[in-house]
Amino acid sequence: MSKPKVYVSRIVPEEGLASLLEFAEVSIWQKKESMPRDLQFKLFEHCDGLLSTLNIAVNAELLNACPSIQVVSNYGVGYDNIDVAACTALGIAVGNTPGVLSETTADHAFALILATARRIAELAEWVKNNNWTPEMGYLDKLGTDVHHTTLGILGMGRIGAEVARRAVGFNMRILYHNRTRNLKLESDFGAEHVSKNDLLKQSDFVSINLPQTQETLHYIGAEELKLMKSSAILINTSRGPIVDQRALLEALESGQIAGAGLDVTDPEPMRGDNPLLALSQVTILPHVGSATWQTRTKMAEVAARNLVNGLSGKPMVSCVNPEALGKGRYAKMRA
Ligand code: DGY
Repeated sequence: MSKPKVYVSRIVPEEGLASLLEFAEVSIWQKKESMPRDLQFKLFEHCDGLLSTLNIAVNAELLNACPSIQVVSNYGVGYDNIDVAACTALGIAVGNTPGVLSETTADHAFALILATARRIAELAEWVKNNNWTPEMGYLDKLGTDVHHTTLGILGMGRIGAEVARRAVGFNMRILYHNRTRNLKLESDFGAEHVSKNDLLKQSDFVSINLPQTQETLHYIGAEELKLMKSSAILINTSRGPIVDQRALLEALESGQIAGAGLDVTDPEPMRGDNPLLALSQVTILPHVGSATWQTRTKMAEVAARNLVNGLSGKPMVSCVNPEALGKGRYAKMRA
């Protein structure tokens, strides 16, 4: 029997793909630049599965042109590049990689908290540019404390919980806002569930750990920024469009809030002439929350396993639309 055909839309750590390479006939897009849209239609046309990356918009138009695709396995926990409703309607299972990147992304959120509060990137650049002289005084280049401050976490999923775990070590008071309360977390970390507005009003650091959905688009805009303390710092390691970037720029320029640490922007990549980059109180990184060798390898393992299991009719490691398994293409191919 011939092996299923699978396309991997970007280079990922190959050792993580071992199970998939054995199971399927795998093609990998080898170029650094994104696969052009017209080529996506051509190259995925005869595939049974797709290991998709954030740069590929998996929508009805693409899926209708690729009638054999039954499983789309996204390389990441977020899947805002995928029209899940369209997949479900066609009977296409969608997988993602939760869990394996939570701690690494939480480390990164903390790196941004510390970097922004203590002006790490700005001061490292300042030293490199030969500005450090004996005249530097005790009132120069001051930052702000992280320990014993209040951290507000918007979205208490797996990543939010890991951010909270780290905050305990910094003796921070932890506030969170989430659709549902997490009583275990409240007792483990002393986290307090509060309204979104109370969180914004009371926090010294606000960490966004929400998925991107219709409801979270511009979840932080002008009104929300107005509620924050003028000394507060906003941290975003989830998705750029959750913050209204124009409103953020205004809030930073007017001193409405004190700083921002962003791993994600809108759009991505951010161009070098973006006015946010000219502000010294802002630290911006190129969407690297999960970017360690270990974590990117584990993500490849989970994404590969989702395809192997999904295409063999076994339970996927993580399927975001299990209702798709009993219908359309998925059911037909296994009838
Ligand atoms: C995720 O897993 O959603 C990351 O943001 C992609 O690197």
